[in-house]
Parts: sequence; C-alpha cells; structure tokens
Amino acid sequence: MFKKILIPVILSAAMLLGGCSDISVNVNINRDGGRKKLMAVKDDLKWWQETIAYEIYVKSFKDSDGDGCGDINGIISELDHLKNLGVGAIWLTPCYVSPQADNGYDIADYYDIDPAYGTMEDMDRLIEEADKRGIRIVMDLVFNHTSDQNEWFKESALSKDNEKSDWYIWADPKEDGSAPNNWRSIFGGSAWEYNEERGQYYLHTFLPEQPDLNWENPKVREALIDVANFWVKKGVGGFRMDAITYIKKPADLSDGKPDAADGMVGIHSMTANTEGILDYLDEFKSAVQDDTDIFTVGEANGVSAKDLPNWVGKNGVFDMVFEFGFVNIDLPDESNWCETREWTLPEFKAVFSASEKMTSDPKINGWYPMFLENHDQPRSINHFLPEGADRVAGGKALATLLLTMRGTPFIMEGEELGFVNVAWPDIDDYNDISTKNHYKFAIGEGYSEEEAMAGVHRFARDSARTPMQWDGSENAGFTSGKPWLPVSDDYETVNVKAESSDPDSVLSWYHELVNLRSSHREFIDGDYEEILHEDEQIFAYLRENADAKAVVLINMSTEKAAYDPSITENAKQILCTGEGSDAGELAPLEAVIYEELK
Ligand code: NOJ
Repeated sequence: MFKKILIPVILSAAMLLGGCSDISVNVNINRDGGRKKLMAVKDDLKWWQETIAYEIYVKSFKDSDGDGCGDINGIISELDHLKNLGVGAIWLTPCYVSPQADNGYDIADYYDIDPAYGTMEDMDRLIEEADKRGIRIVMDLVFNHTSDQNEWFKESALSKDNEKSDWYIWADPKEDGSAPNNWRSIFGGSAWEYNEERGQYYLHTFLPEQPDLNWENPKVREALIDVANFWVKKGVGGFRMDAITYIKKPADLSDGKPDAADGMVGIHSMTANTEGILDYLDEFKSAVQDDTDIFTVGEANGVSAKDLPNWVGKNGVFDMVFEFGFVNIDLPDESNWCETREWTLPEFKAVFSASEKMTSDPKINGWYPMFLENHDQPRSINHFLPEGADRVAGGKALATLLLTMRGTPFIMEGEELGFVNVAWPDIDDYNDISTKNHYKFAIGEGYSEEEAMAGVHRFARDSARTPMQWDGSENAGFTSGKPWLPVSDDYETVNVKAESSDPDSVLSWYHELVNLRSSHREFIDGDYEEILHEDEQIFAYLRENADAKAVVLINMSTEKAAYDPSITENAKQILCTGEGSDAGELAPLEAVIYEELK
C-alpha cells in the first residue's frame, strides 16, 4: 500500500525538480485528460504492446547469498525498482541448469534452475511476486542448440544408431579427416567438432560446447514444444527466442567462399534465415501460443525490414523480432572487431524507419521491439553517440529515443542509469568467451595487441554485463562477496540510490518518460513518421493518434543543431532534457518533445 502511494509522488517530484519544470507540470495536468482520451482511440492493443520490457542479465542483477553471482531471490528483492520504471515484462537471460560455457546460453536441463541462481521454488515465487506488481516473466528459450552436457546430446553422441542419434547435426569427415566444410562458427574457429565415439563431426553455430539441434527431426521439435509449454503452464508472459534464425540448415553442406585469411566462411552467411524455416516456426507458434496471451520475440539476425511480413504481425511467426540492422552499422564484418566504418545519422534513422513502416502497414499489423542495448552489445552511449559525449546528456537523449518510438521498449539493465563501457587493460580481465575469441582472431589476422584491445574496448559483451549498481557501498550493493565480474569504476555516483535522489540524473529522466507514456497515449498507439530525414544531427519524428500529435526532436550530436521552427509552430513544448529549448535550436544532445492537441 505504502509503495503504491509513494511511486506517483516520486515521479511527480522528479518532474517538478528537473529541467523544464513548468513544462513538466503540463504533463501532469494533461494526465487525466490523456487517460480519458485513450479510451476513444485504439483499445485493441495487447498487454505487451502497452508495456515496457526490461532485460535482466541474471548473473549480474543482484546477489542474495554472497556468492558473487546474481540470483532469483536477488531479483525478487529489487522488483520495486522495475515497477517504478513502468516495467510490465522482464526478460530473464537463461537461468536453467548450465555448465556456463556461454553464461547460460548452453542449457543442460530446460526443466530446472541452475543452483547458482536458486531453485524452481524461487522461480515460482518470482513469477508470483512479479505478477503482484503487474509484471510478467519472459523466459529465454535457447532452441538452436543445447549444452554438450545436456542428456539429449550425451545420448546422441554415444552411437550412430541410438534413439537420439539424429537429434543433432552429425556429418562424416572429409576424406583427409578434416571437418565436413569450411564454415566458421560465430565465436571463431571451425563450426565443427570431432567426436571420437561416433567418428563424426557435429555442428555448432556458437561454441563447441553448444551443439546445434537437428530441427529436421520431428521428435526434436516436439521435445522443444514440450519445454515451451512447461513454462507457459508456469504462468510466464512470453519468450525471447535465442538465435532462432539459425535453426534450419541448408541441405547442401559443401564449402562456402572464404571471407578471411583463415580460408573459412562465417556460418551466418550460410545458415541464417534459410528457406523452410518458417514452417517450423509456424508449427511452434500454433503448438505453444494459440489460446494464450503470451508474446514471443525472436532474436532475428539475418532478417531485415523486407522479410518482416513473414516474421511478425497477422501472418508472422512471432509477435516481434529484434533486428540488428542498426546494431552493426559501425561493424561491416561481425567477426572482425578491428575494422569499423563511419556511419551517418540518416543511415541509422533509415533502419528504424524502414522497420517501423513495414510493421505498421495495416496489411501486416505488426509490432516493433525498440532497443538500443542488450547483453551482447556495447553500451549505447559509446556505441551510437560521438566520442566524448556527456554521459548524462547522452543517456537522456537515447532514453528519449527508446521510450518514444513506436513499439515495446526493451531497457537493458543499467541502461536506465546511463551505464557506459568498461575498458579493462588486459584480455585476461575479460570473462566473455566470444570477446576472447575475437581478440585471438584479430591477433591471428595480424592486428597489433593495441588494435586488438581497441576492438575489445569498443565491442566487448562484458561492458553490458558488469554488475548492476544499486548504491555507493562496496561492490555497488550488488553482492556482499566477490562479484563474478568487476563492478564498473563509476559505481559511487552511477547507482540507483544516488540517481533516485538526483532530479537531473538519467534515472529521473527515465521516470519522466515513463510518466509521459502513461499520460500521453500517442506514444503508445500513435503512428510514427520520421521527419528531417536528411538531417545529420537530429533524429526527429511525429507520433500521432486521433487526439494528439507529438513532435520528438533529439540532437544526437555534440554540437548545437538548428531546425526549421515551423515544424513545432502550433505545438506546446511538453518535455525537454535541458532548461527549456528555444524553437529552432537544440543544445548538444538535447531532446525535446512538443505536442499539439487536436
Ligand atoms: C545470442 C545470445 O544473445 C548470446 O548471448 C549467446 O551467446 C548466443 N545467442 C548463443 O546462444
């Protein structure tokens, strides 16, 4: 009860104290009117289209038992932080039993929780406690592969004629005994691993410890459907489908054209989004999702805007897909972190706009999962803003983009505090196996130690995985033990406690935006239209429904930016990150929102 009263008070206070305070008051005044109006507009949205999703990297969120590793009870203890952020869905990275070769993305038992994270009873309690706060739990289904410690794989590896012998992708060596083809795994090295017992190789898109399942086998598909239904029965709100575009392999396993000095070809170009994949996913959808209110979001590397009609919406296999067109805008070749490319803001904007346009086409009626970060990516302030961008101003600018685009925003833990990349001096300081392999690849390709480490500092996945920072105490309040990965050095100022009481913090800005979304319906159900497309500094767009038209202007550069003030002529400024913006001009990294009621 106490909490229920406290939340709006905190939000309103933050709004009153923050920049543009008089403007923020307008937001408050409009709130009730906004609620009434929203009844009149599209009210057929599903719960997951109206909410905000939050990704928890379970290992790094909150440790309850002092072993240095985040756990389920830790998550339960911090649910109110998420409720205050307007979160209605929590995507948990995999917390099933796993040897942790890839931090849980190598699953040994889909039906149990890894002891490092807790027990199934803890998970049941998390689902229940989250539910009390109006939050649903979203499980990460890793179905392209399992762990090599999964009983399915152990049995499959025993012989060529046991019951599960074709549950994985086995192939004979080439005549000279080498791997069946020259495919390079996503984490580097051959995508094939030899198994003595069978005298054959098995395929692994990722690590050798992550053998790929054979989706051609109906029994495999059935077993995976059973796993998903087990979790549906537990009451989860949805699934994030890991690496799902790789599940269907081509019939032809011959060599591909080499793309690097190692004579290999990246497996991505050979197996992503292969003909026939949609049949399997259709089957999965009807066996798992029919008659439920859960949602699915696919990790869809290899799917671009033009493919979306088959992947989302009326005839799509998922409710949403994460596409990566903008993520790799600075990285022409994912396996080589040393070669980056210059990109322009119009290019960046075009990727979002193409997907928004495609998903919102009434013939498709799809939905977009808006994200700028996840546990595989650098922090967005470093990734998408110019070098040297102010952390707080930059965090607010990107938050504005994240929470006002059309679609369900996915916040990555720490993003709401304005986390930035870590840059540890030595490759041995890093935990992530893919980072270590990228480093090795760079050295192998002839790059210097300095160049290889620069790539690591730019792209290492560990930057998104450092422990969550709760307060300024030792280990940022994450654990009473030794954290599994070092806490970032900035924890004394960048933490939930400090930012909650600072009206100018990134976190307070998130709260303002969350409030804005609930009081201004156009940010949820409004159409999206990009404007000022050719502008090299400003990301600008309209969000419009039957009652209101909002103009969002975000200066993504560290210089002042001018625009034609007639765009906002009849509108009222309702929110801005700075002191209040003059029409026609934005300060560096300033974001401002105008609204015109109809
Ligand atoms: C994508 C996940 O997001 C990543 O963390 C993981 O390493 C690979 N898939 C393999 O499961």
